Amino acid sequence: MNAPTPAAGLAASAPPAAAPDAVLEGAGLGFGYGVGDAVFRDVSLKVERREIVCLLGASGCGKSTLLRVLAGLESADAGAVRFLGQPLTSPHPRSALVFQQASLLPWLTVERNAAFGLDFTHQPRIAEAVRRARVASALAAVGLAGREKAWPAELSGGMAQRVALARALAREPELLFADEPFSALDAITRAEMQSLLVELVHRWHAAVLLVTHDIDEAILVADRILLMGGRPGGILAEWTVDIERPRSAAPEAVARLRLEILEALRRSSLR
Ligand SMILES: Nc1ncnc2c1ncn2[C@@H]1O[C@H](COP(=O)(O)OP(=O)(O)OP(=O)(O)O)[C@@H](O)[C@H]1O
Ligand SMILES: [Mg+2]
Repeated sequence: MNAPTPAAGLAASAPPAAAPDAVLEGAGLGFGYGVGDAVFRDVSLKVERREIVCLLGASGCGKSTLLRVLAGLESADAGAVRFLGQPLTSPHPRSALVFQQASLLPWLTVERNAAFGLDFTHQPRIAEAVRRARVASALAAVGLAGREKAWPAELSGGMAQRVALARALAREPELLFADEPFSALDAITRAEMQSLLVELVHRWHAAVLLVTHDIDEAILVADRILLMGGRPGGILAEWTVDIERPRSAAPEAVARLRLEILEALRRSSLR
């Protein structure tokens, strides 16, 4: 079966040749909440175009805080963030965010929730027909065609998270920031959503920075895995995951990498 292509108006073209390779670059980043020690210090990382990078680390090591700084939701105390080669000071219109909770607005239908990310003031204005096409295509891509008029209260957790994903895709992001987007879902729905995420970002030509503390999730979806840890936090290790997809077809390679990461995670928690 051929993979469906996005409808007219959705991002499907290759980036211009002159565009920088990295969608996102953080250099020498430091951040503290002003109470106690810094959360992280001297963190540098890159996300290339169309790359899926997972940020893995023990609970409380600063992953969500780093993601918020990289997404422009918090200002770094030190260092700088660049998005598509330009300094980033606030969330970029070509980025999108997905969190653990779908955070749908209960008084809006599925369709209007999916369109919601197109209404932000910093989002470029688009024609109504393009907007409708983008939303319809994104909802179809996450398997919710026909449920446009449903209310959030009628959705399962997995369906709500699909709407959140559609809302992000409708923005045609160059980069999707995702903070434990599937951790509230049951195991089967979660596995489905992980595969769907990979399929969709490949189809939309988007890059992803995914925060998780689940090693299996990281190995299943990532092109590259960064391990965060230490106090203050830093990037302690990095793996390029060159296991062919679907990775479930290569259980031995997955198990080997899993052990290696687990060992590094254990060592990081002893630091
Ligand atoms: N708003 C805040 N004010 C003060 N401290 C905070 C705030 N948010 C987070 N912290 C602290 O910053 C540190 C890093 O928190 P963060 O939420 O980034 O960790 P995390 O790696 O995402 O954890 P988890 O895996 O549990 O989500 C923690 O010590 C946390 O208590
Ligand atoms: Mg977190």
